Amino acid sequence: METFQSLLAKKLSDALAAAGLPDAGELTPATDQRFGDYQTNAALVLGKQRGENPRELAEKIIGHLNVGDLCEPPVVAGPGFINFTLRPGAIAEKTARILGDERLGVVETESPRRIVIDFGSPNVAKPMHVGHIRSTVLGDALARIATFLGHEVIRDNHIGDWGTQFGMVIYGWKNLLDQRALQQDPLAEIVRIYKETNALATSDPQVREACRRELVKLQGGDKENIDIWNECVAFSMQDFEHVYELLDIHYDIQCGESFYNDRLPGVVERLLKSGIAEISEGAVVVFFRDIPELADKPCIIRKRDGGFNYATTDIATIDYRLDDLKADSVWYVVGAPQTLHFKQIFEIARQQGYRADLRHITFGSILGEDRKLMKTRSGENVPLRGLLEEACRRARKIIDEKNPDLSEAEKIDVAQKIGIGAVKYADLSQYRMTDYVFSWEKMLSLQGNTAPYLQNAYVRIRSIFRKAGESWHRHPADEQVGWKPMPLQLGDSAEINLAKRLCQFAEIVPHVLNDFRPNILANYLFEVANSFHTFYEACPVLKSEEPVRGSRLALCDLTAKVLYRGLDLLGIKVPEKM
Ligand code: ARG
Repeated sequence: METFQSLLAKKLSDALAAAGLPDAGELTPATDQRFGDYQTNAALVLGKQRGENPRELAEKIIGHLNVGDLCEPPVVAGPGFINFTLRPGAIAEKTARILGDERLGVVETESPRRIVIDFGSPNVAKPMHVGHIRSTVLGDALARIATFLGHEVIRDNHIGDWGTQFGMVIYGWKNLLDQRALQQDPLAEIVRIYKETNALATSDPQVREACRRELVKLQGGDKENIDIWNECVAFSMQDFEHVYELLDIHYDIQCGESFYNDRLPGVVERLLKSGIAEISEGAVVVFFRDIPELADKPCIIRKRDGGFNYATTDIATIDYRLDDLKADSVWYVVGAPQTLHFKQIFEIARQQGYRADLRHITFGSILGEDRKLMKTRSGENVPLRGLLEEACRRARKIIDEKNPDLSEAEKIDVAQKIGIGAVKYADLSQYRMTDYVFSWEKMLSLQGNTAPYLQNAYVRIRSIFRKAGESWHRHPADEQVGWKPMPLQLGDSAEINLAKRLCQFAEIVPHVLNDFRPNILANYLFEVANSFHTFYEACPVLKSEEPVRGSRLALCDLTAKVLYRGLDLLGIKVPEKM
């Protein structure tokens, strides 16, 4: 099903051709709704190109535009924009068609790609903390949206399970471990021994040396150390799994850095042989002499002591994803501090002849109320699991007040949907590059651009349908068998506005992937909820007469479907009551 935007864009192309003009400019949603629904700058672009008067060109184009089935007669505005205002009849018809479409009008891409999305990717032997929310939630939303648009997505958790921290963890395990504490809270105990060893190693060179030896033994395949390492990884994974369960996050593969360990010597050899890397002061290094911004930033891929590092692993990872998984694109949802790292890695891939689309999708930080990086009172990273549990506790309080009659089981379920939804939405509704302040009050508020506000709009609609009961079920729109699109009755401006917004869903969803911005979808849903509330205040639904009643119920139904699907694409669930 075509969107208004794509239909009008085609008609514009036809008009340009008929007027003997080349294709030019864009057809976009209007920047100011007062002047119409869509606009094009075609005449402005052509005017500049050809040195002609843009307003006259606009008139000429309008003379060839054949849009009467969709719009009021187009008008020239300002320096030469052409504005389009949709006719209520066209909106009514489209709305009915979307209501009968499972995908709510969203078309699958014509060029599906296989996309590996590397997101979340926490490090073992450390708990997941609040900083991991962004990568995890953003990556999940992008994966859901890309999948819905018809791409083949492979969700990969590139866990940091192999690194220098293991020298210290193993030393601590052998010298400081408290078995009972390990049984009670394994990850906390592993973190404790890691931290204490780290402190010891800083002050005592002998401990430092002992840690280094443990690491070398691990890398050399020493059985005892490998066993300890395995156990630590397993304990960490258990902790991650809890968080993923709360967040409803799933991965297709979780290779982790250790998976690539065997491949690292081969990578270095190959890069040396092809001349991409060279030996410099005993280390193996890639220089980027021809690339100004990297010219003084070489990348070490084998250290002087023979050890490999994070970069080497990522080079091997690209091989695997492109050669073995046959990906067309790899999206790395990783914080901005790793920008240089990815520039280097992508350049090395390019020099090796890879042509895949590699993207580093960065994001800003989460700040505390003091506008500094969010920390606990003692200055540590805020553990994610505790934070999510607190979100559910706080949501529960709201439900206890708002709807004390729900059963205990319902309360638990609703609290989780609201609490987790609030945390996710607070993140996704921001432009990803913006730092934002983490505020419980704000994210859990039932007013404003929050998950609970959107969930509440959905719940309200569901309660209309519970009240409508039988009379709704007899409505033809609900009988899928033999269902025919029936144009809605759009009279009131609040109805027209809401219907127009609902038709935009199909334009918004693909737009998210242009610059990886789920916030576009979030803000759209917020506008849908606002338009719904305006409609609901202006237009009685259940008390109105047929056929207006059925038409308004259909609008309510489509609103609920758009909210449900839109939030689902953001990884947010909706309760039926709250
Ligand atoms: N484990 C890394 C970290 O916590 C993130 C890994 C991102 N992915 C990658 N392929 N390097 O910083």
